Amino acid sequence: MQWPKHGANPQYLYEVLKLDMPAKTIDFSANINPLGPPQAVKRQWSSLLSSLYEYPDPFATRLTERISKTTLLPKENVLIANGGAEIISMIGQLFARKRVMIVQPAFSEYETACRANACEIDYFFLNKNWHLDIEGLIATFKEIDVVFLTNPNNPTGKYFSKASIKRLIEAAECLGVYLIVDEAFYDFVDEYEPISPLLLQYDQLVIIRSMTKMFAIPGIRLGYVLANEQFITDLRAIQPHWSVNSVAQEIGLLCIEDNNFQKETRELMKVERKRIFSFLTHNDYLHSDSSTNFYLLKDPFSKESERLFLFLLEKGLIPRHTYNFPGLEGNWLRLAIKSPDENSRLMEALKRWRESSL
Ligand SMILES: Cc1ncc(COP(=O)(O)O)c(C=O)c1O
Repeated sequence: MQWPKHGANPQYLYEVLKLDMPAKTIDFSANINPLGPPQAVKRQWSSLLSSLYEYPDPFATRLTERISKTTLLPKENVLIANGGAEIISMIGQLFARKRVMIVQPAFSEYETACRANACEIDYFFLNKNWHLDIEGLIATFKEIDVVFLTNPNNPTGKYFSKASIKRLIEAAECLGVYLIVDEAFYDFVDEYEPISPLLLQYDQLVIIRSMTKMFAIPGIRLGYVLANEQFITDLRAIQPHWSVNSVAQEIGLLCIEDNNFQKETRELMKVERKRIFSFLTHNDYLHSDSSTNFYLLKDPFSKESERLFLFLLEKGLIPRHTYNFPGLEGNWLRLAIKSPDENSRLMEALKRWRESSL
């Protein structure tokens, strides 16, 4: 079976499985803020479209300056892009034919981008409880040119501390290895400690950030990369001109102003995560120890996770399969943390599944 490579766009999942898609669905497969975009974006939606008549600023100057201010980095260390996905694709091009290590399980686009550029790819697996064996990873650095690490990890939601990243970058810097840290979901993590200041000290560090998840704008496409000046210049040289459209640039500025929105989201995630995890433990489900807005789920009493997957799909509750995450091979389901009502709907269904399996 040709499973869809990513979450979201659930119509393709139902199509592959030859199932009728229920009229009402809740998509737990895309890890997008359930609050929707910030109020300022919703309020100015129609006026934002007036910028469609102009070519976008090819340097996204205002947004670059704003990100530079919030990250306390010179603007030469910032590049705005058409989503994290564009950044990953460009990084693949920059590292063509190099030796790449991917910390797995991980977002599949690192491998796709690197394969398209004839890289040699190897995997370093998180251990049993999805802890990262830092010294074990460092031991591989002699054999590689670049390492991809997602923090917090997608799909487990595990967060690796700043101290862990610092230890990795110290070792990477000594051996001339690039450490790419994808922080697509960093802003959902309560205990997050910024690693951007490390960029002033370490040239081999590259940080990828997405704005589509926290600000619920995946259709608009927006992200940025933080790295040393030369790396940013090299990326800019291969980025298509006008890559970031004018609506995205304006929306980015509105989103970044709204600190309360991010705080409110983290608060909601914290409460809901606690409520869901306590339900799962109480009902004998296993879950990953996530610090962010999604988690892995498994029913230890069911040999095949596909049965639970289909049970939920038939009810219009759409999980993310894990067949294309090396190390998981479909044994878990990934679920986004959504609004309280939506999470309750999921928990009711899981309760029914548990009762039917007793
Ligand atoms: C870990 C990770 N990085 C990057 C991306 C790309 O995000 P976007 O292109 O929407 O900014 C995703 C999307 O799901 C992701 O999960």
